[in-house]
Amino acid sequence: MSASVVISPPSERLRQACEAAHAATERVPLLAKLATGDISDADYARVMASLAILFEAIVGGIQALPGGAELLALTDLPARARQARTDVCSLDAGDRSGALGVAFIQGSGSALGAIYALEGARLGGALIGARLRRAGRPVGTAGYSFFDLGAVPVAEAWRDVKSQLDRLLATEAELAEAVLGARGVFDLTAAVFGDSSKGGAAKWGVE
Ligand code: HEM
Repeated sequence: MSASVVISPPSERLRQACEAAHAATERVPLLAKLATGDISDADYARVMASLAILFEAIVGGIQALPGGAELLALTDLPARARQARTDVCSLDAGDRSGALGVAFIQGSGSALGAIYALEGARLGGALIGARLRRAGRPVGTAGYSFFDLGAVPVAEAWRDVKSQLDRLLATEAELAEAVLGARGVFDLTAAVFGDSSKGGAAKWGVE
């Protein structure tokens, strides 16, 4: 009898490689507060301003790569970046601008890892949208479009993203780069949402 070796698909290996980073992100105080849905106007505005610069930097980093536009065309990420920016403009969010460094996006492998992280974040986004709504926030109106995912087939879209990743991450080398790209997004997220006085966002040249 020959032993068979089961090799998990790339999307599953990305999940495993990012599990600890995801858990750490959920513990960042501002994100933990957001996840309850019970958040002040000022904190919600900070969240949206941070999401807007994060999505813009990552989408811009992918766009700048050769073949990057084709990768982005497989995703909703440019539209998500525009949605976040539109929300910021509708809120009294103050302006949080400045380019974030995305040096971890170096080629198609790391770009696909970054796409994994941001597309997957929509799963949490759906949960957050439901909790914001439950807490009385006007989800779906101006300033509250980003988390308006109630009518979006999030689980189905996520299955499609994962099958694209499984098709495109064809080599171990590309998968290793994807892990670095995805972890780069989680690190940058923690830094942008973290307390800049403790060296979080400051490290990335924001604020
Ligand atoms: C308050 C913060 C967050 C909460 C409460 C949250 C919650 C969740 C939940 C409930 C899921 C679905 C788990 C499942 O169905 O098995 C999920 C998946 C995911 N989240 Fe988050 N999330 C948060 C922040 C983030 C951030 C900031 C990112 C990336 C920048 C992110 C990336 C992902 C990814 C990639 C997945 C898919 C994991 C996989 O199945 O491969 N999440 N999140």
